[in-house]
Amino acid sequence: MQLMDTSTRYGVTTRLIHWSMALLILGMLATGAVRELVEHSPLERELMAYHKSIGMAILALLVLRVIWRRFNQGAAVASGAERIWVKLGHGALYLMMLLMPASGLLLAWGSGHGASFFGLPVIAPGAKLEWAHELGEEMHEVGQFLLWALIAGHVGAALYHRFFKRDDVMQRML
Ligand code: HEM
Ligand code: HEM
Repeated sequence: MQLMDTSTRYGVTTRLIHWSMALLILGMLATGAVRELVEHSPLERELMAYHKSIGMAILALLVLRVIWRRFNQGAAVASGAERIWVKLGHGALYLMMLLMPASGLLLAWGSGHGASFFGLPVIAPGAKLEWAHELGEEMHEVGQFLLWALIAGHVGAALYHRFFKRDDVMQRML
């Protein structure tokens, strides 16, 4: 079992972080649809409590991921012009992985409802702060669509490599 990345394949640590975060983030993006199903029921409150907790877990995983990446060489990414696009795409995904939880925390703070991490208080409920609520909400709203678009492009590129170029780009993350 190879823990570290090599020049030809991502190691087990990077793959574990990539796929667990991918699943959690896709689950978080599905919140809007699931919320409609349970609207105005006690389940809605529970769903949003889980949403906030998992969102904070994603932020913690992101910190781990960035630290791991610094101490790990990373699998060789494309060369030439493609390299720039790959770097930009991955960079944008990283930025959104930071901005979504950050705007969520801002929104939870501004709303006055606060937030807890699986029952552990993180932001105490308090007075409503209009500017923080509105800014957080706007960023969270626009952010979800940007993230969907980036993920669609990212998955599209992975499938393109797998089924059209038939190279090993998909394989090295599997
Ligand atoms: C990667 C992380 C995150 C993603 C992808 C994400 C995504 C989303 C999405 C798609 C919605 C829309 C749900 C709807 O239409 O009702 C939403 C709503 C919400 N999120 Fe997040 N979120 C993340 C992290 C967080 C965090 C860390 C918090 C707070 C601690 C948070 C707090 C909220 C709140 C309070 C709402 C409801 C907003 C409203 O009712 O206007 N989110 N989020
Ligand atoms: C669910 C379907 C997904 C598939 C099929 C997929 C596939 C891949 C593949 C094949 C690579 C390696 C690309 C290369 O080496 O050039 C990769 C890397 C990467 N993926 Fe995904 N991915 C998915 C979801 C996500 C999600 C949801 C995110 C974040 C929001 C994400 C973020 C990244 C990042 C940042 C990298 C660069 C390597 C790293 O720094 O960890 N992926 N993905």
